[in-house]
Formats: sequence, structure tokens, C-alpha cells
Amino acid sequence: MASNLLSINDLSKKEILDLIKFADNFIDEDGNFRKENLFPDKIIANVFCEPSTRTKSSFAIAASNLGCSVIDFDVDNSSVQKGETIFETIDALNLMGVDLCVLRHPESIIRELADFLPRMVFVNAGEGSISHPTQALLDIKTIMDHKKSVDGLNIVIVGDLDHSRVTSSFVEGLTNFDIGSLIFSGHPEMCTKYQNSEIGRYEPNLDKALENADVIMTLRIQHERFDKELNLDLDTYKSQYQLSLEKLENAKGDAIIMHPGPVNYIEITEAVYDSDNSVIRQQVANGVSVRMAILSRFLGS
Ligand code: CP
Repeated sequence: MASNLLSINDLSKKEILDLIKFADNFIDEDGNFRKENLFPDKIIANVFCEPSTRTKSSFAIAASNLGCSVIDFDVDNSSVQKGETIFETIDALNLMGVDLCVLRHPESIIRELADFLPRMVFVNAGEGSISHPTQALLDIKTIMDHKKSVDGLNIVIVGDLDHSRVTSSFVEGLTNFDIGSLIFSGHPEMCTKYQNSEIGRYEPNLDKALENADVIMTLRIQHERFDKELNLDLDTYKSQYQLSLEKLENAKGDAIIMHPGPVNYIEITEAVYDSDNSVIRQQVANGVSVRMAILSRFLGS
């Protein structure tokens, strides 16, 4: 296994499946996360240069459950505000004995950092709109919890795909499996990267895209990543691309609905979020066990 988790492509199919299976060991028979004092001598730094609730908190909980010390690094009150670069900042953490850095950053710098500090382990917790490998692992685990296997499934991804690091890592992860079909749907100006894809088909009509779907990944509009806001009429957008109970009727009856969060209720209705098909809250919970597995593997290697 690679010494850092920078991309889902760093993992073989076997490593992906082993991590997902390993994650189950950290959940007890009552569904609670186990607390194991496996790494009491390890220090983890959570360095988030973009906002996060799920990823940041689940890494902190996962590290604490494994007995690690956790530094919840506060970028906004750090010497970054006095002109220190992120390289100098993480080098300082390294010199102070941090073993593993969980990094979320708007730019693609994690590989350079990993080369710069080879004795530190890096785990990518979100790289601009480029990648989010630990989210892809928990998404694949959530699918497998419900569908046993990813092979043969018809998967739809709908929403603002262009700005979605969740989509890019999820799609990279799916290339390890023999899926039935992969359909990209959403507003054409939010799906420009996916209209001529070799591994999936773009279908702008969501009703058609959902036909026979087993898995529906929904995504919010990431306004914070637009250079210039699109001139959207929200009611028109919702009528075309919001996943409603009515639109869901096009999919298989046991289709699962996913969303990485946070949910804005423009991309899905509250009724869909609350429906029996929704596994969105399970995705959040799976974040802890999957990240316990990731930390264990990368701290132990
Ligand atoms: N899914 C995800 O990355 O959520 P957060 O931004 O809350 O971490």
C-alpha cells in the first residue's frame, strides 16, 4: 500500500475492498464505534483550509477512538494569517512530532507536500474540486452495505458535477468495478466535464437518466466554486434536476439515494431525504468507521 492516501487511484481494488471490510471491525454488535487504544503514541493534525463538518469531525472522532492525540489545527488563528505558507505550517507541525496530517485545501498541493515531508503521512480530506478519496471509500462502503456488490449496478450522478470532488473520486473508484451503467445528469453548464466521458453517459433529462437506477448520487450546487454565478431560475432548475418523490418513481423501487452533504434541498426534496430509500445519514455515520480503517492502515504501514 502507498504510504499516503492522496487519491483513490493510489489504492488497488483489493485495497479498497480490504479497507471497507476492515471498517466493519470498528462497529460493535450494537452499531456503536469501538474505542481501541491502538495508537496512543501517534499524533494526528486535522488541517482544514476549507470549511467542513463531516470530514473534519469524523477524522477527529476516528483518531480519538483509536487512542491517537488529535490537533484540531485552527488555520484562521494560526501564523498562516501572519504570512506563513502552508508548507512552512505543516513543516512546523512535522518538527513538533505530528505523525499524520489530514489535509483539506482548495489547491492541488498535497502531492508536493508529501514529497517535501516524506516522514509524515498525508491523507487527502478534499483537494479543491479535484478529489476527495476518503468520501469515495465511504460512498462505496455505503453502496455495499445495501447492495452487497457494486458490480452490475446502474448508477446515476446528478447535480453540479463540474465542481464536485466527490464525483471525480467516486467515478475513479467505480472504475475498479464492473458496474451496469453510469449516467451523469444535471444542468449542461454544470456537467461540461462529463458530456463526453468514456466511462459514463450524459443524459440531461433526469426522468430518463433515472430509469432502472439502483444508486442515485445527488449533489448540491457549489456556489462557492463558481467564478461567475450562472443566471439560474431556481424554480426551473428544481423542476428539471431536483430529485423529488415523483422523479424517483423512474428508478428501481429499492434504489438508494446518496448525497455527500451538506444538503441544500434544492437538489433533493425533504421528502426524498426522509424517504426509506435515502442512505444519506448512513453515509455520514460510515465516515467514522471508514476513517478509523484508513488511519489504522496508514499509521500502521
Ligand atoms: N462530504 C463532505 O466532505 O462534507 P463536509 O464538507 O461537511 O466535510
